[in-house]
Amino acid sequence: MNKIRLRRIYWLLACCFLLNTLNAQHLKTRKKLQREVVQCMNESAQQYKVMMQRLDVARFPVTWYAKEDKLVTSGSEPWVGGFYPGALLYLFEYTKDSALYKEALQKMNVLEKEQYNKTTHDLGFMMYCSFGNAERLAPKPEYKEILINSARSLASRFSEKVGCIRSWDSDAGRFMVIIDNMMNLELLFEATKMTGDSSFYHIAVTHANTTMNHHYRPDYSSHHLVIYNPKDGSVLKKQTVQGAADSSAWARGQAWGLYGYTMTYRETRDPKYLEQARNIAQFLLSHPRLPANKIPYWDFDAPGIPNAPRDVSAGAVICSALLELATYTSGKERKSYMAAAEKMLQSLCSPAYRAATGENGGFLLKHGVGNYPKNADIDVPLIYADYYYAEALQRYWKLGTGR
Ligand code: GLY
Repeated sequence: MNKIRLRRIYWLLACCFLLNTLNAQHLKTRKKLQREVVQCMNESAQQYKVMMQRLDVARFPVTWYAKEDKLVTSGSEPWVGGFYPGALLYLFEYTKDSALYKEALQKMNVLEKEQYNKTTHDLGFMMYCSFGNAERLAPKPEYKEILINSARSLASRFSEKVGCIRSWDSDAGRFMVIIDNMMNLELLFEATKMTGDSSFYHIAVTHANTTMNHHYRPDYSSHHLVIYNPKDGSVLKKQTVQGAADSSAWARGQAWGLYGYTMTYRETRDPKYLEQARNIAQFLLSHPRLPANKIPYWDFDAPGIPNAPRDVSAGAVICSALLELATYTSGKERKSYMAAAEKMLQSLCSPAYRAATGENGGFLLKHGVGNYPKNADIDVPLIYADYYYAEALQRYWKLGTGR
């Protein structure tokens, strides 16, 4: 054998060895995270038993103020009602702890009447996160009926002229649509599957298309709010009400979009939605102001970065969305989504974000931002952060078990 050939063989063997070592290391990290995720699910179940003790029967947790040890709760009508029962159901699915299931069903009894609420676009959040998960775990005709009625109520807010579901009702002359509304489409897709009535599907894809056309900027960041003329569907104004500026990238808004288009691809298999989700992921994951632990600041353009507050709710939604998006891609791309989601999950499971049992008012995660411009709920736990965290734990656990 000549020297050149020997050298080639040597390099080939060295590369194989390196790849094997990297793979082994990666597997070790993944296994470790799997164990952490299981521990987080068990401890989260214990933490929600603390929450249960503090809650009145007809109230839903929203946030907690550490200074006064004040648990902030709501009735069933605001947008957050479905998250607590939904998170309980995710945790029950793993732990099989019947106390969690019982508590979820009790809250759903209170929530049930919202199926007829036509004054909100948030019925997907409220009814799908709760009754949708309950139906998935143990189907019942009454859940189906509630979900279908909820979808009908949501669909009543659709305008064919605008091509969207109305979000805010505050001004009849201005048809306001926020990016968050992408999340409510899942309920409509489900209603078509349950009834065979494609009008729900039509509304969902029309809303997704209109939002893709008008909410997104060329860099695939999104405005928060687009205001349309209800008479002809023309765009009157674009704003970012919950963000740092109209031109800024409000973190939770970007998260809703990523999750929303990933879910819309799952339900339609139309590649243009997958492309949209990939482009949003690219914006987020390559952003120079995405911190190393991958939990975003409350706005990617927040003043004061790196000292601006983080928003753990945006982190939890992005993490859960990436775990799903990864399953629709392959090769390097899939690896990059998984790596980012795993980094996020590691951060969320760490003491920096995850509360110790008995602390944090019974909420699972710390450091969320509700509405910064309104000076409301800054650096607090948020029930929607808990929900998407529980979902991400569940998704990662299922990926690991091959379910
Ligand atoms: N849907 C309201 C929010 O994201 O704050």
